[in-house]
Amino acid sequence: MHLEFTAPRTNSATGHAGTYRRMLPVALERLYENALDWEHLPHVHPGSFRSIECLGITANSWRARTESPRGGGSVIELTLDRSSRRWITRVLEGDGQGNEIWTHAFAIEPRRVDIVVDFFLPTVPAVDRAAAGEAYARLYARLYDEDIAMMVERTRQLERRMGDDDRATRRVVLGPRSDLRLPILASLGGRDFVVVDAAGELRAFPAQCPHQLGPLTAAAVTDDVVTCPWHGDRFDLRTGQNLSGRNCHLRPLPAVRVAEDGSVVITLEG
Ligand code: FES
Ligand SMILES: [Fe+2]
Repeated sequence: MHLEFTAPRTNSATGHAGTYRRMLPVALERLYENALDWEHLPHVHPGSFRSIECLGITANSWRARTESPRGGGSVIELTLDRSSRRWITRVLEGDGQGNEIWTHAFAIEPRRVDIVVDFFLPTVPAVDRAAAGEAYARLYARLYDEDIAMMVERTRQLERRMGDDDRATRRVVLGPRSDLRLPILASLGGRDFVVVDAAGELRAFPAQCPHQLGPLTAAAVTDDVVTCPWHGDRFDLRTGQNLSGRNCHLRPLPAVRVAEDGSVVITLEG
């Protein structure tokens, strides 16, 4: 993959270690949302974060303790300044303490943002800085690959939601149970639902997570619980209740039954 990395030109007193550039095919608001979303880090970027614990949060910032999958960890703070179209990530403690990453975002089109990411690594000796900056750029390239998938999917789901059609069908016959290759998707009331075999019971639930529309189509189902891949919320498939404590639940849950002729029928009631 081509890496758009520019090494620092001067022996900067600020510890500047180079610049990474990238075009992202999403709206600026999706990017701000992603920057402020501390919770997704261990779920969407498991190669870089093993766990995260939030230490403080405001409307435009967060501070959290993170653990790396290779051991070690740090306390990170991210501050978003919308008027400067910029967010700054600072390592306050632990691995990389003192490092700062400044990201500027330029909305070029409604769905195109160019970002310029500057790495400041003051504790790295000047002679090693360009190499350390390039390693950071490679890490950011990987993180953005993972984030683009999330942001593009969220954009798609937000658009679909606006186009919901209440008059659409509320009952679907899926065919004989023995022919079904689960999980499968079914469309009811203009929304997609996933039908799974949960511990021997057929269950149907919305294909989008109620938190931020994370995709549940391929989400892990264990017993009667589905886990969202974006922030790890767990939902009880019998009731839709969020078992992770957040106040958003997985509803509506269509009824699933097997008709007299053996066909599986799902119905959106109410
Ligand atoms: S989108 Fe956040 S837990 Fe599902
Ligand atoms: Fe991310």
